[in-house]
Amino acid sequence: MEKQILITGGTGYIGSHTAVEFINAGYEVIIIDNLSNSDISVLNGIEKITDIKPIFYKVDVTLKAELRKVFETHPNIQAIVHFAAFKAVGESVEFPLKYYHNNLTGLINILECMEEFKIKNLVFSSSCTIYGQPELLPVTEESPVIKPESPYGNTKKISEEIIQDFLNSTQGFKCISLRYFNPIGAHPSAEIGELPIGVPNNLMPYITQTAYGIREELKVFGSDYNTPDGTPIRDYINVVDLAEAHVAAVNRLLKDKTEDKFEVFNIGTGQGHTVLEVINAFEKNTGVKLKYRITNRRPGDVEKVWADTSKANKILGWKAKKSLAETVKSAWEWEKKYREKTKASI
Ligand code: NAD
Ligand code: UD1
Repeated sequence: MEKQILITGGTGYIGSHTAVEFINAGYEVIIIDNLSNSDISVLNGIEKITDIKPIFYKVDVTLKAELRKVFETHPNIQAIVHFAAFKAVGESVEFPLKYYHNNLTGLINILECMEEFKIKNLVFSSSCTIYGQPELLPVTEESPVIKPESPYGNTKKISEEIIQDFLNSTQGFKCISLRYFNPIGAHPSAEIGELPIGVPNNLMPYITQTAYGIREELKVFGSDYNTPDGTPIRDYINVVDLAEAHVAAVNRLLKDKTEDKFEVFNIGTGQGHTVLEVINAFEKNTGVKLKYRITNRRPGDVEKVWADTSKANKILGWKAKKSLAETVKSAWEWEKKYREKTKASI
């Protein structure tokens, strides 16, 4: 029997790349998504890359009755990879309840269904935002978790706590929580990639949209940080590398290698880059000159953070492979292809 997994939020940015990697690894993939932040056409992109169209249900994970139907229809799901959540930091400050409702009710429904339908394995999308500004760098999984500044970030901290309480009250259920650093880039085919709705908040889509002429200029938020060139440092991880970490996590859960009910792993490259380094890498590897200007700091930004990935390297047998050069180029190839495609369809 083929190994079957359920991906919530599977038409989203990270979910779609992860679906591809699971299909490539021989899994049967079932995607659920309410399409609140993604487009159904992403399924065509996944099919173009893999020759397989995943099973798809338009389901909102906050609606338990809808969710239960999926598990009733598919009694052999062995693991759930739970991406479905809202993720816009600024919006979460403005509408905190929307974020707590969606991200936490969704998770609770998933856990209740796991219990009811006896699905033992979960991979959860967490974030390095729960470390805040770590005192020691690179940041290990032992670093203290703080209450993040934004309600969005706080949903990740609370989610990890909810999952642990659930696991402690049950037998045989396990979860791996992956704490992502900064995912960027796109599939090398440029068939799928990041598709922010409206004005992007994150650096990479802002860069590619500026390069394409959709945005006038990139604002670099501050150059007075205590870093080599004064701009903040992040650990930018290629989304395909990140996707592969989910396959490694599910493989670990299914092979029953772990006695631990709850494990966390940092998923980054282990290398930090400043904003100016990312801009330079983009210009050098795409040949496109980027219009940018240094402005004030963005409130809430941390100065520097990058991952110690040795735990994931050792225990998951996973390592980020792709260079920053390759990754920024992939983001640009996706932006161009997507814009050409959508122009053609107008
Ligand atoms: P995304 O918005 O592209 O994907 C999330 C998907 O979930 C979307 O397709 C959206 O339509 C869907 N969704 C949202 N609420 C839903 C609901 N109630 N029911 C069903 N589907 C729902 O975001 P992404 O960047 O792919 O992020 C995936 C996960 O990783 C999220 O949990 C996010 O918080 C987490 N994460 C992302 C980043 C990042 O920088 N992208 C960093 C750390 C953690
Ligand atoms: C943001 C979120 C964080 C989330 C992470 C990954 C905030 C405050 N934090 O982090 O909760 O986990 O994304 O999704 O939003 N930058 C510019 N100009 C821009 C955009 C960004 O200079 O137009 C800089 C930022 O100051 C930062 C770096 O680029 O130094 C990366 O920014 P971004 O992509 O938004 O990610 P984070 O700030 O790390």
